Amino acid sequence: MIEIAVALGARSYPVRVERGLLARVAEHLAPLSRGRPIVIVSDANVAAHLATIQASLAAGGIAGEAIVLPPGEGSKSWAMLERLTDRLLALGVERGDHVVALGGGVIGDLVGFACAIVKRGCGFVQVPTTLLAQVDSSVGGKTAINTLAGKNLVGAFHQPALVLIDPDVLDTLPPRQVRAGYAEVVKYGLIDDPAFFAWCEANAAALLAGDPAARDHAIAHSVAAKARIVAADERETTGARALLNLGHTFGHALEAEADFSDRLLHGEAVAAGMALAFGYSAAHGLCTPDEAGRVAAHLRSIGLPDGVAAAGIAATGATLVDHMLHDKKMDAGTLPFLLARGIGRTFLDRSVKLADVRAFLDAA
Ligand code: GLY
Repeated sequence: MIEIAVALGARSYPVRVERGLLARVAEHLAPLSRGRPIVIVSDANVAAHLATIQASLAAGGIAGEAIVLPPGEGSKSWAMLERLTDRLLALGVERGDHVVALGGGVIGDLVGFACAIVKRGCGFVQVPTTLLAQVDSSVGGKTAINTLAGKNLVGAFHQPALVLIDPDVLDTLPPRQVRAGYAEVVKYGLIDDPAFFAWCEANAAALLAGDPAARDHAIAHSVAAKARIVAADERETTGARALLNLGHTFGHALEAEADFSDRLLHGEAVAAGMALAFGYSAAHGLCTPDEAGRVAAHLRSIGLPDGVAAAGIAATGATLVDHMLHDKKMDAGTLPFLLARGIGRTFLDRSVKLADVRAFLDAA
């Protein structure tokens, strides 16, 4: 087992990565159960994993209560939050209890937010079942629902007490989902770790084909990077955590143009967004065209989009910039962009002119 600490003082917690962990999950949850039943919230897509967890709890003499929600982004809603919090309260969840969030980013975000507000905050454990949730959203305590005004606009920072990652769950994840999650893996190399980007170039194909060693290394390395960044800037106030948004501003515009539908998965939009951020950086002399080309080539080589058209989007620069104006990162009328001075040399630029972005996108 690999254990990575997220060092946040009194809110510190471990992230444990181990193949086959789900079948032994009772060992990890017993110390948090206080002799009380454990509530597990999941969706119908992960029924098999829920059964594995319930069997482990039963064998460990721990009672389990399951809440199964409808799968999909639509569950990150006020209505589902109300339904979930009512159910948690009806089950008598106490502040000292730990609710298990078993699923991808939607379940993690929704359950985390419910646990942030039930009785003004109860404990929770993240058990992420997608690559994207394992390497990004389950770690760091960002929780949210979507509203009419946009995605993730209502939420809270609420750190889990424990994150349990079983890489074997990826065996049954659709390959497209694994590939989309991989975009968040390669992001860590592009942010500040050129050696890891080189590792990604050499090992992505094996990882995506299910090679266990490549998968374990990618997950552990990504979680360690995320833990380091979150420990440095838990609430995204100093700029360190903002680096995790590489590719997200361009990507958000592409996702919005695709109506946040399955036409373009979040990770696919991030991949295209990272290629665009490097392309924009090269166009403005910040990094070399060779480096931007290397990023695009890597993404392309594994079937991720490396630009607007490759993402299946036909939109003008003006339309895409208009979507960006609704980005939650807007700050006093300016939109901070993550740009790059090279691979592993990402930085936050608050002086990007949207007119330049528009022109770049029209020419891209
Ligand atoms: N996914 C970006 C962050 O956790 O800050």
